[in-house]
Amino acid sequence: MAYAAFRSIGAYAPKKILTNDDLAKMVDTSDEWITKRTGIKERHIAAENETTSDMGVAAAKLAIERSGINVTEIDMLICATISPDYFCMPSTATIIANKLGLPGVTAFDISAACTGFVYILSIAKAFIESGMKKNILIVGAERLSAITDYSDRGTCILFGDGAGAALISATDNKEEAIIDVHTGADGTYADLLMTPNGGTGSPHDALEGEANACFMQMKGNETFKVAVRTLTKDVVDILADNDIAAEHVQHFIPHQANYRIIKAVGDALNMKDEQVVLTVGKYGNTSGASIPMAMNDVYESGKLQAGDLMLLDAFGGGLTWGSALVPFSPLK
Ligand code: UT7
Repeated sequence: MAYAAFRSIGAYAPKKILTNDDLAKMVDTSDEWITKRTGIKERHIAAENETTSDMGVAAAKLAIERSGINVTEIDMLICATISPDYFCMPSTATIIANKLGLPGVTAFDISAACTGFVYILSIAKAFIESGMKKNILIVGAERLSAITDYSDRGTCILFGDGAGAALISATDNKEEAIIDVHTGADGTYADLLMTPNGGTGSPHDALEGEANACFMQMKGNETFKVAVRTLTKDVVDILADNDIAAEHVQHFIPHQANYRIIKAVGDALNMKDEQVVLTVGKYGNTSGASIPMAMNDVYESGKLQAGDLMLLDAFGGGLTWGSALVPFSPLK
């Protein structure tokens, strides 16, 4: 049987930075409120002509270069995004594949909001274990600034842009293998976090004259409570199912939505500060890109070593959630 190994990580954050003080000039908020309630100090924002696929390509190039796998060996590309280059089609994955010079590879997007990266990891794992594919590039890329309402202080303080990518490849060595990935969803909470306009579920006239057709709307406080509850259960379950103690995790890399959510889940697992990866302060919430961007920070700091066990955990619109136990298994 083939196993799926997590070979490499890469990420990209656009140059422009939007600080809390910048936002305080746009809506009724303050650096103090945002820092205290979320831990966010700043977020990166794409340039006017910079698309989600451009950012995905930048992250993917790094992941490919670091993987030791030749670009011609990649046989599938999956992109997780809720801010695609185009509404409906073509998928952002096909655009990324084209820009990377990967003609003919299977390419598609999935929509699982902030849980997107864990979902594409589970799909890559399944395709490799089934023997259908050998080298899969997974990309989480978001230009959330394009779907953020900068007059809504409840959401605009949270989101940023960026991308992260990873190469998952087949191995015979079980020691290198991704241990487990859990995913789930519950549509009864759909209205907590959504882009209510612009699809077939919205009244047709909702689009007319609306510049804000695809803006995100969130019931923040309710989402917060469900997030803490769901994320905590999710990580407790995946550790118990695999008989792994939290202390054996080198890097807990949760979705970066809010410092208080991360702290609550980390505390429930008795995680030490040095185990918990925190990048929400400098990137904000980048949805499907947040976990790989955070992982890339650990990699670039030199702290992500071959064999290190990572625990991933995410939660987002849908609602969706997921967790994963992943050893870092670079080829070089
Ligand atoms: O990534 C996908 C999942 N997303 C999440 O997990 C996000 C979850 N939610 C959150 O992170 C938090 O709920 C927020 C950061 C969005 C909000 O924090 P909160 O502590 O839940 O605040 P709240 O919504 O209960 O609002 C408390 C007060 C309200 O004022 P009143 O009614 O008490 O007078 C809000 O109007 O804070 C007010 N408020 C603000 N004040 C200053 C809301 N947003 C702001 C703001 N600046 N930006």
